[in-house]
Amino acid sequence: MTEKILEINQLTTGFKAEKGWIRATDKVTLSLEKGKTVCLVGESGSGKSVTSHSIMRLIDYAGGTLLEGSILFHGENLAEKSQEEMRHIRGNRIAMIFQDPMSSLNPVFTVGEQIAESLRLHQKKSEKQAWKEAVDLLRMVGIPAPEVRAKQYPHEMSGGMCQRVVIAIALACRPELLIADEPTTALDVTVQAQILDLLRKLQKEIGMSILLITHDMGVAAEMADRIAVMYAGVIVEEGSVEEIFENPGHPYTLGLLKSIPGLEGERGNELYTIQGSIPSLGQLPSGCRFHPRCPHAMDICREKEPPSFQIGKDQRALCWLFDDQKQGSELEKRSERV
Ligand SMILES: Nc1ncnc2c1ncn2[C@@H]1O[C@H](COP(=O)(O)OP(=O)(O)O)[C@@H](O)[C@H]1O
Ligand code: SF4
Ligand SMILES: [Mg+2]
Repeated sequence: MTEKILEINQLTTGFKAEKGWIRATDKVTLSLEKGKTVCLVGESGSGKSVTSHSIMRLIDYAGGTLLEGSILFHGENLAEKSQEEMRHIRGNRIAMIFQDPMSSLNPVFTVGEQIAESLRLHQKKSEKQAWKEAVDLLRMVGIPAPEVRAKQYPHEMSGGMCQRVVIAIALACRPELLIADEPTTALDVTVQAQILDLLRKLQKEIGMSILLITHDMGVAAEMADRIAVMYAGVIVEEGSVEEIFENPGHPYTLGLLKSIPGLEGERGNELYTIQGSIPSLGQLPSGCRFHPRCPHAMDICREKEPPSFQIGKDQRALCWLFDDQKQGSELEKRSERV
């Protein structure tokens, strides 16, 4: 049986507002198997970063509160850990990389010192040993002349090289889980492909699991074993990468797929865009929160929030189109809509 290393159950993270709580993640349920990659996708503002920061409990520092749910990491509930306990887990058993490598690196230390520091701190390595391993890590992430590069400062390196350094720091302690929040968004396309290749290669070598957060369905197609699609704080569809790409169920997933350049949506030079924009979490629409933008909205969609329907072997979606009575005909129509 495959081992689940992360199981998030009904995770609800709130921010206190004047009129009560704003739920930036609402009953998010997600799991990740050892050595696999789950991609969390969705437009900007859908709650992806809040989810990742909640897992790491960094959300506590951004004014967020875990209102409900559990985050089981090897069966231990991170939602109940103290910050002191989380400090031993962060950067050690779970590592995180962010969009902007420059904000993750310290400008006043050389990159070698920054990697070595992580090894000294978490693994109690000697200064000499830590430096040697830092150079090895730079080599591992594909930085040429690592002995020389280790002595350089972040500003002496390109964005792509800096992100490789950030990855080296993240991997220094051989984490079991890597959470990568838009790790390639700030990089140009060629460098983006190199970094994604690198992550895949390192994942095989270390055997780590990856939770990859991206707004880019193209990136998810390349990297994911499973995909979870997030919209306005909820996971509206989840399935294997094959299910999501070959037989998407939720109209929002369909919209995201149609907007990938060079895939379904490119009619002439015009790229498909989902009409409207993501709602403010303080003023969510009634019923299905996607209904004002949904080309298939029905009366029930405006009135009642849809429950989760099993729509494929490992696939579920929050959408009334899959309600039992309509299921037969809707499943037939799915292929036509794709
Ligand atoms: N520090 C914060 N304080 C209040 N609300 C926040 C905060 N961070 C995020 N949010 C709310 O959560 C929403 C989702 O944010 P985020 O997770 O960053 O989106 P994504 O990463 O998908 O682009 C934001 O649009 C905002 O409403
Ligand atoms: S529940 Fe209704 S409005 Fe929501 S995605 Fe499904 S069809 Fe569209
Ligand atoms: Mg984000």
